Amino acid sequence: MLGCFLKKREVFVMKKELFGVTSGGKTVYLYTFENKNGMKMTVSDFGAVLTHLWVPSKDGQLVDVVLGYDQLAQYENNNNVYFGATIGRNANRIDQGKFEIDGQVYQVDQNEGENQLHGGFSGYHTRPWLVKEVDELNQKIVFLLFSPDGDQGFPGNLSLEVSYQLTDLNELIISYTGESDTKTVFNPTNHTYFNLNGHANGTILEHSLQLDCSYYTPVKDSKSIPTGEVLPVANTPMDFKQSKKIGRDINQIVEQLQLTGGYDHNYVLDETKQETEAFVHLIGDQTGISLKGYTNLPGVQLYTGNFIEQEAGKNGVNYQKYSGLCLETQFFPDAVNQVNFKSPYIEENVQTVYETRYCFDA
Ligand code: GLA
Repeated sequence: MLGCFLKKREVFVMKKELFGVTSGGKTVYLYTFENKNGMKMTVSDFGAVLTHLWVPSKDGQLVDVVLGYDQLAQYENNNNVYFGATIGRNANRIDQGKFEIDGQVYQVDQNEGENQLHGGFSGYHTRPWLVKEVDELNQKIVFLLFSPDGDQGFPGNLSLEVSYQLTDLNELIISYTGESDTKTVFNPTNHTYFNLNGHANGTILEHSLQLDCSYYTPVKDSKSIPTGEVLPVANTPMDFKQSKKIGRDINQIVEQLQLTGGYDHNYVLDETKQETEAFVHLIGDQTGISLKGYTNLPGVQLYTGNFIEQEAGKNGVNYQKYSGLCLETQFFPDAVNQVNFKSPYIEENVQTVYETRYCFDA
């Protein structure tokens, strides 16, 4: 039996290629895994970024469904669009870059005006990570990062692992494991932009999107700090409970969409369904490729690439506004300061694991 299994596996590949040498002198690599259906993912130990994801379409073509860059130097400067990025310590925004833990005030990096976005000036997506494990049999890689006390302004020595796995069921599983020696913030996410028609194939406006969320957290102003309210999506353009084209309501003249130039909002996930039911179902209109998502995190930021402008990407493509969309599973924006939102803290010496699973089909 075992023999059969191994034989079946012999055809699969894990390819390790040189990606380049960072400006800090570190040699980094690209790791490509292929499953039995020919689906492939490429990730790098630079930033623990996802650079490519080739999914078979209905007619058997392999379609790269994620936006990205060709050059390492571009990933070193990936601070506007965050292509494929592993974000930490804190995904999304912190108002004034300030918060309190047990009476102690912390001022963290303010890299977006007075606020912090996606971990500050030196996000985890711009650092070389260690490779802890390559599991060729299960098409899985585990990256490791040590983030010392005071890093980006956050307390606690944090050890963080991020793993990517491509299963034979065409699932991409991303998991995050964090442990710190003091109570701290641990709110990682992945900032991959999907375009299920292919990364070089226009916008996502004709994709059908279903988000199984009845509530979202509106923003105060164009700086995108939440008001703290949790409001129903019903009877607003924010409603994706029934599948609809992303472009259908995106240009409606309503304050929330105007403030953010498209969708850039956190949706509230139903925790009772998290293991079993998909929170999202996205379909590319041209390829028929679909994605379903599952997570044990409490929220998802739907971001429709509103701020992408002439971004030179893979294979000479110039990405534009709406070229891809992110489904950033995370704690709610500014959760460190909002009493109504679940706190993104981990306790001292308690290992915490979050997982997000995207399943592809055509
Ligand atoms: C997040 C934010 C957006 C934008 C992108 C990066 O998704 O919510 O407002 O900053 O990152 O461009």
